[in-house]
Amino acid sequence: MKKRIAVVASGRGSNFQAIIDAISRGFVPAECAALITDNPKAYAIERAQKAKIPCRIVDYSTFPSREVYEHALLASMQEADVDLFVLAGYMRILGSSIVRAFPGRMINIHPALLPAFTGLHAQRQAVQHGVKMAGCTVHFVDESLDGGPIILQKCVPVLDSDDEDDLAERILEHEHLCLPEAIRLFCEGRLVIEGRKVRIL
Ligand code: GRF
Repeated sequence: MKKRIAVVASGRGSNFQAIIDAISRGFVPAECAALITDNPKAYAIERAQKAKIPCRIVDYSTFPSREVYEHALLASMQEADVDLFVLAGYMRILGSSIVRAFPGRMINIHPALLPAFTGLHAQRQAVQHGVKMAGCTVHFVDESLDGGPIILQKCVPVLDSDDEDDLAERILEHEHLCLPEAIRLFCEGRLVIEGRKVRIL
């Protein structure tokens, strides 16, 4: 039985595309049942249409408060009825009611070697800090900021000549490999969360 997944994204959606492609080549044994977005202008929506993936737009700007928005987002996620939610460039912090609704069923990709450089502009933070290695992390989502149990990480070098964009581009290539790989492991039932650690069977 294939797992059902939904991708939650706010913008460009290149990671979403990497997931679509990995499913269509048979690398990820899943059905992508929905794209959920907070941004009606997200390019990810076009990618969903092209791949005939249903799209749920929960437009943040139309809600009177964050609380009401989160309520609608949670309802939309529940209706999607999937095994796994993949946050792939979702640019807002998820409220705890949503995180608690799907324990062990939500993963995120972050463009840094966590626990370093959480939050926004992780690549800029890495360049400014002068680190020699950077990378990306796929982790389960818990109520902390980019702090849940780590599933996979990939490293890239940081070159002296790098600016934020150069580094982001180098990391992104690895994100596109790392995220489908983590989803595949989830779908194969090979991820076991043991406290802070994720054991890969
Ligand atoms: C990626 O760098 C991801 O790690 C971060 O936001 C960016 C989204 O890119 N969370 P895309 O929308 O998948 O192209």
